[in-house]
Amino acid sequence: MKRQLWNKVLSVAAVAAITAGMLTGCGGSASNSATSGGQAAASNESEKAPAGGTQVWRMAFNQTEDHPQYRVMEEFSKEFKERTDGRYEIQLFPNETLGAQRETLEQVQSGVIEMSIVNNTHPGSVSDYFKAFDMPFLFDDVDQAIRFVKESPVMEEVKADTEQYGFCIATYMPAGTRSMFTASKPIKSVDDMKGLKIRTMESDIYVNMMAAFGGSATPMAMGEMYTGIQSGVVDGAENNEITYVNSKYYEVAPYWSQTNHLIVPDWLIINKDVYYGMSDEDRAVFDELCSEAIDKVQVQWQADVDKLMASLDTSKVTITDDVDIQSFKDAIAATNQKLVDSNEKIKKVYDAVQAMK
Ligand code: GCU
Repeated sequence: MKRQLWNKVLSVAAVAAITAGMLTGCGGSASNSATSGGQAAASNESEKAPAGGTQVWRMAFNQTEDHPQYRVMEEFSKEFKERTDGRYEIQLFPNETLGAQRETLEQVQSGVIEMSIVNNTHPGSVSDYFKAFDMPFLFDDVDQAIRFVKESPVMEEVKADTEQYGFCIATYMPAGTRSMFTASKPIKSVDDMKGLKIRTMESDIYVNMMAAFGGSATPMAMGEMYTGIQSGVVDGAENNEITYVNSKYYEVAPYWSQTNHLIVPDWLIINKDVYYGMSDEDRAVFDELCSEAIDKVQVQWQADVDKLMASLDTSKVTITDDVDIQSFKDAIAATNQKLVDSNEKIKKVYDAVQAMK
């Protein structure tokens, strides 16, 4: 409870600070960026080449500073500043201090902030293409997802689709494989899901997924998840190992069951006007750092996963790593098929993934 309240206080304070910055220094859609040295980025021209100042972009992040995505973005920001001769700097706001992911997507769209890392579910709420990535068991492993995002020609079309909603997909941020964790019993096969209330991200696809598994979904933002489990509003949740350990969910849900049911991307997003407001040269640097970030996150991810899981006290946490995964696949097959058949854009991505396998 305390943690949630603290996040809310920080969040209100941070948004107030940003709004104050906008009122005193900036105006126009793409020119909401704060510019150091009291210089407002007043026109497109001044944004392309901020005269003598550093444009400070704000990037929202909903998890801790230990997270591989955060560490890579710290390095990204440093390098971006150096390679643009100090024209740009990215300031990172971890721990939901700028709000939950859904709010931060809206802030990026309207230009209140410049960047955020959001789960796929959020672009999926505006563009149907992305819904395909919410599908359980779509990819066999994260390397396959990385290959798809980097190499599939369909991705150009997918990414371009968000521009009409005011934001660009800057890059893919790998986010591991998701499994179930529960407060009072292990999950050995899909039969153990019967009657369980599980927190999911906010998408109908996950609501249908939990129903197909025999439980029910309670969608909520991540900031509410710890207390949601602790207070018994839900019986558990599902997420990747890094989030499970870094955000200490093992304290309230000590049964980790390796179901590997989802490989859902996170995306680094950027306000469209901000992205196209850069000079071609600066945008090329930005794009290069974006494409390098994919592998950098994945390398750090792999280095962290085993270490973090091994750090858990096995007298308190029960790890079940021989789950009957096929029982989950069988339970979801018809629901997946229905989703593919429901929409041309989802089908296009799904077919492209199958063709690449
Ligand atoms: C993962 C993912 C986040 C997402 C979170 C969630 O940790 O990386 O982007 O917000 O799951 O379940 O909400």
